[in-house]
Amino acid sequence: MSKTITFTVQPGGSLRGEIRVPSDKSMSHRSIMLGSLAEGVTHVKGFLNAEDAMSTLEAFRAMGVQIEGPVNGEVTIHGVGKHGLKAPQAPLYLGNSGTSMRLLSGLLAGQPFESVLTGDKSLESRPMRRVTLPLTLMGAEIETQDNGTAPLRIKGNTHLQGIHYDMPIASAQVKSCLLLAGMYASGETTVTEPAPTRDHTERMLNGFGYPVSRAGSTARINNQGKLTATHIDVPSDISSAAFFLVGASIAPDSDVTLQHVGINPTRTGVIDILRLMGANIEVLNERSVGGEPVADLRVRSSKLHGINIPEALVPLAIDEFPVLFVAAACAEGQTVLTGAKELRVKESDRIQVMADGLQILGVDAQPTEDGMVIQGGPIGGGRVESHGDHRIAMSFSIAGLRAGATITINDCANVNTSFPEFGQLARTLGLDLSSQ
Ligand code: S3P
Repeated sequence: MSKTITFTVQPGGSLRGEIRVPSDKSMSHRSIMLGSLAEGVTHVKGFLNAEDAMSTLEAFRAMGVQIEGPVNGEVTIHGVGKHGLKAPQAPLYLGNSGTSMRLLSGLLAGQPFESVLTGDKSLESRPMRRVTLPLTLMGAEIETQDNGTAPLRIKGNTHLQGIHYDMPIASAQVKSCLLLAGMYASGETTVTEPAPTRDHTERMLNGFGYPVSRAGSTARINNQGKLTATHIDVPSDISSAAFFLVGASIAPDSDVTLQHVGINPTRTGVIDILRLMGANIEVLNERSVGGEPVADLRVRSSKLHGINIPEALVPLAIDEFPVLFVAAACAEGQTVLTGAKELRVKESDRIQVMADGLQILGVDAQPTEDGMVIQGGPIGGGRVESHGDHRIAMSFSIAGLRAGATITINDCANVNTSFPEFGQLARTLGLDLSSQ
């Protein structure tokens, strides 16, 4: 159980400077998974040394993979090959990490051994049928709790069969889970997504030389490929950069450059939405690093206005809505989000938790079943609850830049799941945040 941490943010200020936010969480998870299954030694540079990615790393150590690091973001993985994992001796504890649990479910469904996946209170209340149901169609045997939550007991079955699955929700975790299971299934596994979601799994599989093809909204894999060790360079996480994209937009007299940020088009919805609201964000020095587009992002203060957020952008900004709600609170006029019901089953119910906190701060934020309606206006001070959700804690910290009084945020220890340096980097840029 991690220690309780409270953030206190003094109102006002500007953000100025040039920083590099921590590495991409999604890619860090996948680098460990695929590096472990590869033949040969994979070197990862820029691995995210935060609790979620470490949960994945420890799980693979527990399955017999020798992994060195992370030391200064460098990790060396001695791959055991596609069939080289060993039965873990104890349940695999995955902390707060939904990505670890959902992707591992697919991978472990096709192994010749049984495994049990557990997590913290938040993770053990999140829906897992979205993965266990299609995996069962492939022949997997997985026991969930009565309401479809973890702990998951995965029997392991070396006779999985490929299926075609039309995903009812746009979820990169479900897609990735099924592609990983498809590496162990006979015939072909095809997954069709209702809207584009992050494609790091497909890109990284190809980077390891494992064929995955894509036609329109369908990704296709079979069990004939193999993974060959490679070098992976993980860029900064746009989901962590998002706090400062919003912070520098809303705080007067701000000018921030965020270096080396991953701008994979399946992740850049936050830039599109902020630009639609009138933000001044420049994408500089675009380059490609290890098959992923990267750039420096310069953001300066601007006068934001409310918008109806296009639903097509929702999956492309799925983790950024807590901080986008703060942007909406600082915008002139009304912002309406619809089509984002998924936010209710993230690390917390992000619609309810953000609406509750914004209302405490005096903002007119009305939750709806699948989104929120926010009227821009002044932000006051007060004590808000993050409900142990890292992105909620960081979003309310950013709100302090435009608050009229001190904001205190309870239950912030889980900022360590994705962005342990948040407080320090935010202070470097000019946010008056203290942590007890
Ligand atoms: C992730 C996919 C998204 C996102 C999560 C990371 C991934 O989840 O919210 O933080 O790495 O695949 P969903 O697939 O549930 O939308």
